[in-house]
Amino acid sequence: MSAKKQASKKKRAGFKKFTLSGSPQPRQLKFFEATQKYVAYGGARGGGKSWALRRKVVLMCLNYPGLSVLIIRRTYPELRENHIRPLKAELAGAAIFTDTRKTFEFPNGSRIKMGYCDSEADVDQYQGQEFDIIALDEATQLTEYQFQTLKGCLRGANSFPKRMYITCNPGGVGHGWVKRLFIDREYRAGEKAEDYTFIPAGIYDNKVLLKYDPDYPERLKSLPPALRDAWLYGKWDAFAGQFFGEFDMALHVTEPFFLTADHTRYCAIDYGLDMLAAVFVALSSDGRAYVYDEVYKSGMIVSEAAKLILEKSAGVYTFIAPSDLWSRQKDSGKSISELFAENGVYLTRISPERVQGWLCLKEWLKPYEENGTRNCKMKIFRNCVNLIRCLPQLLYDPKCAGDAAVHPHEITHAPDALRYFASYRAFYAGSGGDEEKHKKLTDVLKARGAKKI
Ligand SMILES: Nc1ncnc2c1ncn2[C@@H]1O[C@H](COP(=O)(O)OP(=O)(O)OP(=O)(O)O)[C@@H](O)[C@H]1O
Ligand SMILES: [Mg+2]
Repeated sequence: MSAKKQASKKKRAGFKKFTLSGSPQPRQLKFFEATQKYVAYGGARGGGKSWALRRKVVLMCLNYPGLSVLIIRRTYPELRENHIRPLKAELAGAAIFTDTRKTFEFPNGSRIKMGYCDSEADVDQYQGQEFDIIALDEATQLTEYQFQTLKGCLRGANSFPKRMYITCNPGGVGHGWVKRLFIDREYRAGEKAEDYTFIPAGIYDNKVLLKYDPDYPERLKSLPPALRDAWLYGKWDAFAGQFFGEFDMALHVTEPFFLTADHTRYCAIDYGLDMLAAVFVALSSDGRAYVYDEVYKSGMIVSEAAKLILEKSAGVYTFIAPSDLWSRQKDSGKSISELFAENGVYLTRISPERVQGWLCLKEWLKPYEENGTRNCKMKIFRNCVNLIRCLPQLLYDPKCAGDAAVHPHEITHAPDALRYFASYRAFYAGSGGDEEKHKKLTDVLKARGAKKI
């Protein structure tokens, strides 16, 4: 017997024969049988999606010795409660869980790694790793960036199927990309419609749950209307749609490159104590904009905010901010813009008019055909992680046509800063030119005794 076979026999010792109890319900069976590269199972809460996801990957591990699987939930506590605990019970005697590696290992060489992506950066740990099967539970809680990064891990030089299984409920930061791919079925360059399939989950599909908890649908009926439609009926239009539906990682995000002195540089600032968001934009002579850097930090008083901005502002030509920074503060009698000026950042005021500003930004992001390829006038360097995370998450404001929702608040700051840049350009372009305006502004500031302009 070869050393490899002996080792595998040794490994198998201690594993008893085990039986997976339970059987799939009809919709879960459809999910089990799907063979597309991206299979989404979504809709109502409690439809039996997570159960099916767990079972499917376990069955695949048993069927394909040596299979490598990654299960992702957004946070570790969710992962532990919804998957690690149940899997430990379901796989007792069939696989060993190693806490340090957060992995279930089967005697046939298959493994299920348990992962989470709480912050945007958490997903980076998987870059360069390879999995045959990736299962995203509650994928609408994950951002498009996280999904795209994980897509890159779906590979391996073996004959096992390469698939992503996704469970989802309407709503959440990933609502936009899940709906686009699986409900609206709108595909972009590099995405093939035949790779995607969607299996709807209904609460009445899960007879097991209804048997033990027959009041569950009634409890969902008492939720606020949008949430009720989403969670009870699995309606994807219950929540307002993605505001920047045109945003496409492959098109709008670019690797950083060297910017020359020919690029005119701007910094647009959305300041609040809860969050300082600043975007640095370079304009090329052919009218293209590159968002090359960002500042994104909470709890910054103005002097600290100014310091952070100045550290990145080499070559910046104009600092742009909305007019509300010119209101006088009750305590100091000074405006925020004055405080910025005292700390070396001289702001140019723009109207924060929202709908008009968003329209201007949409013009920059609008994809168009150029020599047979898709292009756009604004690209964002990959290092601007917060802007890239927040832009695709913004939702339409259901109460104001053409405006973006202000909730969840955390995701509004970086897009707001970029909107100020777009508003500024729309106002100044074609009205005497930036240089002239800037000169006038510089003269005014000099006349006021400003040392640094
Ligand atoms: N085929 C089945 N056999 C036994 N129990 C099942 C089966 N399908 C689902 N269940 C049970 O039904 C309950 C709800 O299922 P599950 O957690 O998978 O739903 P879900 O769609 O993921 O819910 P949510 O939308 O809240 O995440 C769980 O207790 C689960 O164990
Ligand atoms: Mg679930």
